This record gives sequence, C-alpha cells and structure tokens, in this order.
Amino acid sequence: MAELTHTPVLLSETLDLLNLEANKHVIDGTLGLGGHSEAILKKIGPKGKLMAFEQDERNLKEAKKRLKKYEKQCLFIHSNFEHLAEVVSKHAFQPDAIFLDLGLSSPHIDDPERGFSFLKEGPLDMRFDKRQKLTAEKVVNTYSEKDLADIIFHYGEERHSRVIARAIFKARKAAPIKTTTELARIIGKTIRSKGKIHPATRTFQALRIYVNRELEVLESVLEQSLKLLKKGGRLVVISYHSLEDRLVKNFFRDQTRNCICPKELPVCQCNFQKKLYILTRKPIIPDGIEVSHNPRSRSAKLRAAEKL
Ligand SMILES: C[S@@+](CC[C@H](N)C(=O)[O-])C[C@H]1O[C@@H](n2cnc3c(N)ncnc32)[C@H](O)[C@@H]1O
Repeated sequence: MAELTHTPVLLSETLDLLNLEANKHVIDGTLGLGGHSEAILKKIGPKGKLMAFEQDERNLKEAKKRLKKYEKQCLFIHSNFEHLAEVVSKHAFQPDAIFLDLGLSSPHIDDPERGFSFLKEGPLDMRFDKRQKLTAEKVVNTYSEKDLADIIFHYGEERHSRVIARAIFKARKAAPIKTTTELARIIGKTIRSKGKIHPATRTFQALRIYVNRELEVLESVLEQSLKLLKKGGRLVVISYHSLEDRLVKNFFRDQTRNCICPKELPVCQCNFQKKLYILTRKPIIPDGIEVSHNPRSRSAKLRAAEKL
C-alpha cells in the first residue's frame, strides 16, 4: 500500500491558539495521521500528556507508528469523540486544551475503497469507522425518496435535492446503485452545476455527513469540551464546510451571553452565565501560500475560544 500522508492545516495558528507550554494536558479529538499531535507533543515537552481520539482504525495505526517515541505520554482512543466525557473521566484526564480538526483526512479521499470521492470508482461506503453498520450504499438504495431529498437538502444545502432524489429513486429501481462513479453519473445526468464544482459534490457531502452523524457528534463534543476544560483552557476547532462552521460559530456565540431569556422578558430569569471568551472574532483561514502548497486546506476555517 502507498504511504499515507496528510498535511496538517493551519498548524502554527493552531499551536498559538492552543496556548501550549511544557507539562500541559491536551486532547486531540481528531488524531488523523498525527501531524497536529506531533507538533503539540513537541510543545508540551516530556511531562505533557496527550489524549487522542480517532475513529478510523487505519489512521490510528499510522499515527501510533508516527508518534512511537512519545507513546508513554499518549493515550490513544479508537473511538468517536462523542464519547469524550466518558473516556476523560475513566482516565481522570483534565485538559488544558482541546483541539478538533474535523472531517476527512487525505487518505480517505485518496483511497477509492473508502467511497468518499466521486472521481474514483469505489464502493458507496463513506464510513469513517468501519465497525459502523450504516453505509452510504444503504442510504442510497433503501431510504424513501423523501428522506433522501431531505438528507441531500439539509446536509448538502443542495437546492436540486428533490430532482436528485427522484433520479436516484428511478435508477435504483432498475438495479441497486453500488459505486461512487455510478451515483455521480446519475447526478451528472440530472443537474448541471454552476462554475467549477462537480454536480455530485453537494450530494456526496450530504451522504457523508449523514452516514457519520457529523453534525450531531460535533454539537455533542462542543458541549462536553466546555464542561471538561480547565478554567482558562482553550478550545480550537478547524472546520471545512459551512454547516460545521456555523455550528461552531453559534455555539461559541451562545456561550458568550450572560442571559438567554426571550427578548420580551423584562427581567432575566435564566441566570445563564457566559462561559467562553472568543479569541477569533472572524475565523482564521489559510493564506495563499498555504493553499498553494496544500490545496485541500482551501476551505478550512479555524475558530478558538477560552473557557472563563
Ligand atoms: C482532518 S483529519 C485530521 C488530521 C490531523 N489533524 C493530522 O494532522 O493528521 C480528521 C480525522 O478525524 C477523524 N475523525 C473525524 N470525525 C471524528 C470523530 N467524530 N471522532 C473521532 N475521529 C474523527 C477522521 O477519521 C480523520 O482521520
């Protein structure tokens, strides 16, 4: 198998905002191939500790190899980060900083067998964690036309969702849709997209988000992170599409309010207290040099906050 590689995105900005120094305890919720984690470990020195989650078995194995010399300082967890609180309490780990670099790693896109890319023929899989039962193939071939349209609309922000769902429904009556390129062809024959983006882009994004429950687990991990972080601890999140970024932005904003009562109430009754200070008024994005070296970084948006 070819060597797996992934270039860490916004690395120096991430390290700065995590506010790392010797002996800190850090959680990397999305280890990937360990690029960010390696840099974090260098910063926190030999007495620092890293807890790292990764739900993809192959990435986890590669990252462990890469971080072998730090293994005594690391706790590797083969799990979805939605189990953060449970794992943290089991290991009595108190994080000074939590980092999330969401979504796919390069090996997911490069390996056609994972089914994430419509440019290469592969099975319609799209699972980050192969222990999971639900695949994109099951969604595409067994969900009702309405459910398919809703998924494509909500998670792909695709305005042609109904036409696409109808075309999928019609095509699968003749024979089940098994591969990425078959699905892309059906969509390509149904709609035209504006500009450079392939007509299947939004549908593929929607299926991936749905199959991996990406928004649901993100919402949950943000809530958990806020509770687990030490006072003054940092939460840094890199997202790659607008649905994720909006969720992070709104979560941060909601936690900076001192009252969440409806406007009509003359006196506060919620006693809500702000819990975060936002460190990035606007999201940080990669500059032209980074994008030219690593085009996959182009949609990245980094947001960071400090626990009060
Ligand atoms: C963008 S990559 C991270 C790359 C990493 N920062 C590096 O430098 O190599 C995202 C990784 O997080 C994993 N991942 C995504 N969502 C996850 C979740 N909910 N729980 C655990 N791992 C997740 C993916 O499998 C993928 O390997």
